[in-house]
Amino acid sequence: MSTEWKYPKTITGDAATGERYLKRSRINEEFWREVEKGNHILFVAPRRVGKTSVMKDLEENCPDGYACIYQNIEGVKTRNEFYRRLFEIILQCVHRSKIQKTKDLLAKWFAKYKISEVSKSGIKFSENEIDYEGELRNIIPELVDTDVHTVIFLDEFAEVINKLNKQNMQQDAVDILHTMREIRADADFKNFTIVYAGSIGLQFVIKSIDRPKLINDLHPIETGPLSIKEMHELVHQLTNDATINFSESTVVYLAQKLKHLLPYYVQLMIEDIDVIAKENAKPYVADEMIDEAFERVLKKNKNFDDWLVRLRDYQAEQFPFINEILKTCAHNGKITVQEIYNLAIDEKHNRKDDYMDYVEELINDGYIVEEGKNMYRFISPFLQQFWINKYPIHHGR
Ligand SMILES: Nc1ncnc2c1ncn2[C@@H]1O[C@H](COP(=O)(O)OP(=O)(O)OP(=O)(O)O)[C@@H](O)[C@H]1O
Ligand SMILES: [Mg+2]
Repeated sequence: MSTEWKYPKTITGDAATGERYLKRSRINEEFWREVEKGNHILFVAPRRVGKTSVMKDLEENCPDGYACIYQNIEGVKTRNEFYRRLFEIILQCVHRSKIQKTKDLLAKWFAKYKISEVSKSGIKFSENEIDYEGELRNIIPELVDTDVHTVIFLDEFAEVINKLNKQNMQQDAVDILHTMREIRADADFKNFTIVYAGSIGLQFVIKSIDRPKLINDLHPIETGPLSIKEMHELVHQLTNDATINFSESTVVYLAQKLKHLLPYYVQLMIEDIDVIAKENAKPYVADEMIDEAFERVLKKNKNFDDWLVRLRDYQAEQFPFINEILKTCAHNGKITVQEIYNLAIDEKHNRKDDYMDYVEELINDGYIVEEGKNMYRFISPFLQQFWINKYPIHHGR
């Protein structure tokens, strides 16, 4: 063994790319299949499941005949800003193209809108700004003439809608959703796909503004956990040049420990296992190191805090009820429908009429799963233990 310790290629902050990224072929296939069918896509899933990583991979490996552009629109604060951003993104996408028809189209728009420059940071007009919402309705149908199918990934779209909704700009949120719905429904707007992404449960935000129809035509794609085979691949990929060494059986043990195989959890674990292995100068990973790494990962609250914060954020009113379900579930390892009902009829919560809606939300949102009939448990031991640590005292325990 050389004396120099080689670190695994983990990444736990930004989206995973390049050799840190494990290709999610199943997701890519489903994605292109749905786009080809003419569907628009909803990539809404809890934080850290790998949405941005997948979208960046889809953008980078865009098939022939498609033009893809990924953008994070987090900073958008008003309805007009949203339309301006979308207008700019479409121009930026067209700007990248090498196809003559697309270049011609861009030249036409440059003249029509008196645009002096298009760059990564946006577009500049030599004269006044324009009515972006109106002009979007003009430029999108023109994309058909390029024979290229344009795909636009709007990351953090759900956050923008949630923010508008919370800041008493509900009408702006509804207006954006409404316009986008109209554009999707219009037969002239072909060869054009929008991918709406984010980690806020968009369905629930929309439910709170009572307009579920505004997004029910979107095709949701789940990012989901890795299969055991993919997990083996990811461990191998991240550690193949590293000093630490996982045997087949330690990978199996790691999978049993995690139960829910999000790539993020695998990355966090490998990072800490590596630190432990180095401290002990033992490159061969043992089960005890995995146990210890699990505890270390849990202690860093920032890894899981968001799971709690986001519930408070967009479920503020129902939070005490939802949290009571989760606390019970964490401490008892499970919760039954009867127990949920008992909480629901408690006058503190008073959710007798719609309590199962929240259970469904917690399932869709990646907190709990149904296990057996009328019984639920946390999907991830990490989350369960995080909740216990956060609320160590529960009903006198
Ligand atoms: N396919 C993958 N291969 C390897 N690691 C991955 C993959 N997908 C996700 N990860 C891990 O998960 C982390 C979060 O990924 P990403 O930023 O794509 O998730 P996200 O769902 O966009 O999160 P957020 O909601 O916080 O924006 C990455 O830093 C990386 O550790
Ligand atoms: Mg992201």
